[in-house]
Amino acid sequence: MHIRPEVFDDRAAVYAVTHAAFAGIDPMVEPEEVGLLQNLFECEDYDSRFSLVALDDSVVIGHVIATWGRINGEPMLGLGPLAVAPEYQHRGVGSILMQSIHDRAEAESLSAIVLLGAPSYYRRFGYEPAGARGITPSDASWGEHFMVRVFDEAKLPRGAYQYAKPFGV
Ligand SMILES: CC(C)(COP(=O)(O)OP(=O)(O)OC[C@H]1O[C@@H](n2cnc3c(N)ncnc32)[C@H](O)[C@@H]1OP(=O)(O)O)[C@@H](O)C(=O)NCCC(=O)NCCS
Repeated sequence: MHIRPEVFDDRAAVYAVTHAAFAGIDPMVEPEEVGLLQNLFECEDYDSRFSLVALDDSVVIGHVIATWGRINGEPMLGLGPLAVAPEYQHRGVGSILMQSIHDRAEAESLSAIVLLGAPSYYRRFGYEPAGARGITPSDASWGEHFMVRVFDEAKLPRGAYQYAKPFGV
């Protein structure tokens, strides 16, 4: 398996993986994450350096994306969606995608990444409740699910986080 930045020709496979990973009871119903991804790829806050695919040979088996949101006008990445094809889950693919996007963020000297997700999953990657670091979500009901992974505390901005527009929050 290897990880590389997503290119345009990967997108059909990325949508398929995301659809399968987030599918509900009826697999014919498109999960909202697929539409979100389509809009993220088109938006001005998309940055191809932070959209990564995991490949088994040449087959896309996982994807993670982070797009530019803002705190008081200062850019900060917001991560999601993260998806691994169901038949490849529980083999560490999600962890490798997370590590890879963090490595790239650190290489670019970014201060932090935020996300909305399950604390039980994301804590292992160093995420902590964003509120404790002075970063507040646009929806207070997110509570402890709104998390931050700090890379450089000295540069960390404080304030209300605004996601890229396609998130609609
Ligand atoms: C979450 C997801 C990306 C993890 O990918 P993965 O390749 O299976 O992850 P890893 O193999 O690195 O880690 C697996 C571990 O993560 C944990 N885990 C997986 N999904 C979890 C969840 N929803 N909540 C809490 N922990 C979870 C389990 O402890 C699992 O351990 P196990 O394999 O011993 O059961 C994948 O399950 C997925 O695509 N799920 C559907 C989409 C989704 O929920 N995405 C994340 C929200 S944006």
